[in-house]
Amino acid sequence: MAPSPPPWNRSPDPFAELISAEAIAVRVAELGAQITTDYAPLANQADVVVIGVLKGSVIFLADLVRHIGVPIIVDFIGISSYGDATVSSGVVQITQDLSRPIEGKHVIVVEDIVDTGHTVHYLLENLATRRPASIKLASLLHKPERAERQIEIHYLGFTIPNKFVVGYGLDVSQQYRNLPFIGYVQGV
Ligand code: IMP
Repeated sequence: MAPSPPPWNRSPDPFAELISAEAIAVRVAELGAQITTDYAPLANQADVVVIGVLKGSVIFLADLVRHIGVPIIVDFIGISSYGDATVSSGVVQITQDLSRPIEGKHVIVVEDIVDTGHTVHYLLENLATRRPASIKLASLLHKPERAERQIEIHYLGFTIPNKFVVGYGLDVSQQYRNLPFIGYVQGV
């Protein structure tokens, strides 16, 4: 008997596809190759630490690191924004800290999305106080229409319109992180 399809493939499809799983895979491989090129000269000098921001970056990070061809250490940091689930307040709290110091290390922060930019701004400022050798940002998505902070994204997957998106790690009320593509609720 054929397995029943996952719920997002049933009709009517609750999500419109914005970025397909195939397009994500291609772009993530490109980003990994770029990181490999950039960090190959540095990798012998100090550890390269890839920091995933929980929980949204987990799937992106898992795919990205398999395209990075230099030795890396993976760590995670948990942060939460206060306020409404869909509106960033700019007030951020670290809910789970890194497992090791990053002093003297080359840090790549991996985010799911830069929306207003408040969360990553806070995070980068916090991490900079720990005196890493360098710090760069990789983000799968960027919504420039919503930007309230100027954030330099060194490794960007996709620029997207001002829609609330889910899938490939991103959630709405903790759901739909396991969608294999990036989708948005139709009509929103
Ligand atoms: P900020 O507005 O840049 O501070 O974004 C804060 C966080 O809100 C991001 O790291 C995401 O976890 C979440 N977020 C922002 N936009 C979306 C979205 O469209 N879908 C799902 N989560 C989002």
